[in-house]
Amino acid sequence: MTTLILQLLLLALLLTIAFAAKSLAPWVPAWSKDLKRIARLADMKPDEVFYEVGCGDGRVCDHVQKKFGVKAIGIELAFPLYLACLVRKIRNRKLIFKCRDLFGVDLSKADVLYFFALPKSIERLKEKIKKELKPGARVISYTFPLPGWTPVTIDKQEGETDIYLYQI
Ligand SMILES: C[S@@+](CC[C@H](N)C(=O)[O-])C[C@H]1O[C@@H](n2cnc3c(N)ncnc32)[C@H](O)[C@@H]1O
Repeated sequence: MTTLILQLLLLALLLTIAFAAKSLAPWVPAWSKDLKRIARLADMKPDEVFYEVGCGDGRVCDHVQKKFGVKAIGIELAFPLYLACLVRKIRNRKLIFKCRDLFGVDLSKADVLYFFALPKSIERLKEKIKKELKPGARVISYTFPLPGWTPVTIDKQEGETDIYLYQI
């Protein structure tokens, strides 16, 4: 009986990963060497708010929070990854993580929104950004551009992934 319960629990955890992979993107973390590039584009003031939707293991939130002293909020749907975020929070108590579907989270307080999403999910995300982000807010997209929007900057480096910065 206990084995069955454990198996069902494991299945439920795996399902959250599978569902998240279909919703925005599977868990493929940003390269650690790119954290500085993301932070350079974010260029935040300490009183600003950073949101990362689909935050994976929380590495980007962690780097940006430490670099600028900002409020950093990570949203992650896959429960095992959310647990990894909570482990990270033990070392940086200032981080805030929520285990939620990003499409149900209000992003209107974001000064900077960061994500690494597949192109097929970006259209849906764009609609949410248009509805919720305030004028002047910045959007950083790792690897994939937002179709139809003109970036303020593209951080391009030879042999590296592109990172796009937009302003609302
Ligand atoms: C490509 S990974 C990016 C991870 C992290 N942002 C980074 O740059 O290292 C996408 C993440 O989004 C999460 N995800 C997918 N759909 C989601 C949703 N609807 N709400 C919240 N998180 C989601 C996945 O579980 C995965 O961790």
